[in-house]
Amino acid sequence: MGKTRWLLGFCSFLLFVLTAMVASAEENCITCHKKISPGQVQDWSVSKHAENDVTCSVCHGSDHQSAEDAAKAVLPDEHVCAQCHEEQFNQFVRGKHNLGWTAMNALPVTHLEPDELMEGGKGCGGCHNMGIKSEEQKKELHARGYRYQNNSCDECHTRHAFSKKEALDPHACQQCHMGYDHPQWEMWSSSKHGTRYFAKLAGNLPESAAAPKCQDCHMPDGNHENRTAWGFLGVRLPLPEDKEWAAAQVTILKALGVLDPITGKPTARLEIVKKAQLARLTKEEFDRERNRIKKVCYRCHSKDYVDFQFQQADQYYKKIDMLLAEGINIVADLYKDGILKKRGNQTYPYPDFLYFMRTDYGAGWDKLEYIEQVLFQMYMKHRMRAYQSFFHINPDYAYWYGWAMMVKDLGEIKELARQMRATHAQAK
Ligand code: HEC
Ligand code: HEC
Ligand code: HEC
Ligand code: HEC
Ligand code: HEC
Ligand code: HEC
Ligand code: HEC
Ligand code: HEC
Repeated sequence: MGKTRWLLGFCSFLLFVLTAMVASAEENCITCHKKISPGQVQDWSVSKHAENDVTCSVCHGSDHQSAEDAAKAVLPDEHVCAQCHEEQFNQFVRGKHNLGWTAMNALPVTHLEPDELMEGGKGCGGCHNMGIKSEEQKKELHARGYRYQNNSCDECHTRHAFSKKEALDPHACQQCHMGYDHPQWEMWSSSKHGTRYFAKLAGNLPESAAAPKCQDCHMPDGNHENRTAWGFLGVRLPLPEDKEWAAAQVTILKALGVLDPITGKPTARLEIVKKAQLARLTKEEFDRERNRIKKVCYRCHSKDYVDFQFQQADQYYKKIDMLLAEGINIVADLYKDGILKKRGNQTYPYPDFLYFMRTDYGAGWDKLEYIEQVLFQMYMKHRMRAYQSFFHINPDYAYWYGWAMMVKDLGEIKELARQMRATHAQAK
């Protein structure tokens, strides 16, 4: 009896000491960081996490206690968040955002450009730090001296506020979904959908006014699994039924290096496309995403209205693909006639879009081919704008920034090809 009481007493003493230790460790983090990095502590202190005792050490561990041992602080990855937010974690894992880092690293251009832009997170890597990195990927990063960017959950609800309200603001998407090749922000914000959103925000429409923002269409009901039918590259399998359109898509797939330009057979890149889900590869996959987003439109528009919008978008898609295919074929013919020659890491005597503006294909700055840069721009800047504008309902992007610029690119490609052929004939 006495023994048990003694044991009980000892245990509660131990518990007291432990609690005090934890509490004091916690206090240490905050007291010291109030001086070192007050902005962080301020953000955390008004967060749901502070309210719920999710303290600094829950995410960062408590091994680091002073300025000297800061490297011992754990930089938490997504699995730490998953301990308490399994649902959002699992949804995220199934979605396209989880593939951002993998997709970036799958492209040959990534390995030609400065590291600061990739691992350092200032260019491609600033937006593509989306997706859970494997242990191997992390080890490689750390070995090369890159310690940060272990977490993609903080890309929409940023640390250390981790606020749901912030993530629901369409500005949360803007940093990445803007600019050169995916100006969804610019298109949406100046469309009627965006206009109504901002009018509502300014109090010029009632609180209850319908005004869809990015999250309503792409994260309905807070679902963190995101994917669209056409995706970014704008190609799919099976090919469209329309013969002319299918032929144009085959040409584009060749320029993406997914089909062998000579035999037309799939290359090793098809595996990358599969692994990083760069395209929908079955009709079911495509239709599932289409129907998912259409259901969102039906919340506010009639079914016929919505179906017509998508039908028209796909019709326009065919026209822009045929224009692009014509541009690709002109450049491909220059290779066929020996006017352009294979350079650097190029696999085929054929333009390769996955090298982006690096049309030297790694052979050196004096080997950049201008005509291929114009062709790449036609694909990456203007074709993207042309089709994305239909889904984000923006007339100016559809015409002036999209279609009209593609036509201009084609004109330039034709003129450049004519000049190159003339120079080539003269040299002979
Ligand atoms: C005595 C002061 C002190 C205490 C106590 C302290 N820190 Fe720090 N912490 C620092 C300093 C100094 C740095 C380095 C800041 C810099 O790089 O400018 C740092 C850095 C960090 C970093 C960033 C590490 C990196 O690699 O950039 C994290 C995360 C961190 N602290 C969390 C914590 C947590 C969690 C606790 C409590 C368990 C804690 N700190 C306790 C002073 C302290
Ligand atoms: C809910 C989890 C969570 C909590 C709680 C948390 N952090 Fe962090 N913290 C993170 C994440 C995620 C990162 C980014 C990690 C990365 O970039 O790899 C981070 C990064 C940091 C960094 C380094 C980057 C920078 O911006 O300086 C410091 C310092 C830091 N936290 C301090 C703190 C302090 C102090 C507290 C408590 C007041 C705290 N953290 C609470 C998740 C948390
Ligand atoms: C130890 C458990 C725990 C961990 C670890 C944790 N959270 Fe939380 N988180 C919570 C709790 C509890 C809440 C409050 C839930 C509520 O109010 O319904 C919360 C709320 C949130 C919210 C909603 C905030 C709001 O404004 O409503 C977000 C976003 C969030 N956490 C993100 C994260 C991220 C990102 C990480 C990892 C860096 C993380 N959490 C790690 C427990 C945790
Ligand atoms: C401003 C942010 C940003 C920068 C910089 C950026 N990307 Fe992206 N990238 C995105 C976004 C957002 C998407 C998805 C766009 C869409 O679907 O319309 C994307 C899509 C992609 C895709 C296609 C993924 C898929 O599944 O369809 C690849 C591959 C890619 N980027 C590689 C790169 C490379 C390589 C670089 C640098 C040379 C780069 N990105 C620079 C934000 C960026
Ligand atoms: C930190 C950068 C970043 C932020 C912030 C971001 N995204 Fe993305 N998003 C990406 C990248 C990178 C991709 C392409 C990933 C891939 O597929 O490999 C992408 C892909 C997507 C896709 C899938 C496109 C496809 O290929 O089907 C959708 C939809 C999307 N994002 C919507 C959003 C929405 C909505 C928000 C805001 C709530 C948002 N994103 C915030 C970087 C970001
Ligand atoms: C009214 C609904 C709606 C809103 C609002 C909306 N989108 Fe979209 N988005 C779509 C549709 C529809 C598609 C194309 C789906 C398909 O391929 O069938 C799409 C496609 C995308 C894609 C894939 C590439 C593309 O553009 O076709 C990304 C990435 C994306 N949206 C991001 C965003 C971002 C970021 C915002 C906010 C700035 C936003 N969207 C606002 C409906 C919307
Ligand atoms: C593309 C932007 C984006 C990314 C990346 C993202 N979230 Fe979210 N998150 C949101 C949005 C938007 C909401 C609000 C959803 C809603 O309520 O409609 C949200 C809400 C949450 C909430 C609050 C849920 C609730 O209803 O209280 C938690 C928890 C959360 N996210 C955790 C995570 C975790 C964990 C990750 C990483 C695995 C993550 N999020 C990555 C955009 C994002
Ligand atoms: C939350 C409600 C809501 C959702 C969801 C929504 N819309 Fe709208 N949409 C509106 C409102 C409101 C307007 C402006 C009313 C008007 O033009 O009469 C509008 C306008 C439009 C316009 C006409 C723009 C113009 O310039 O006349 C088109 C086209 C359109 N939406 C298509 C779509 C498509 C496609 C989807 C799904 C991807 C969608 N909408 C989802 C509310 C919504």
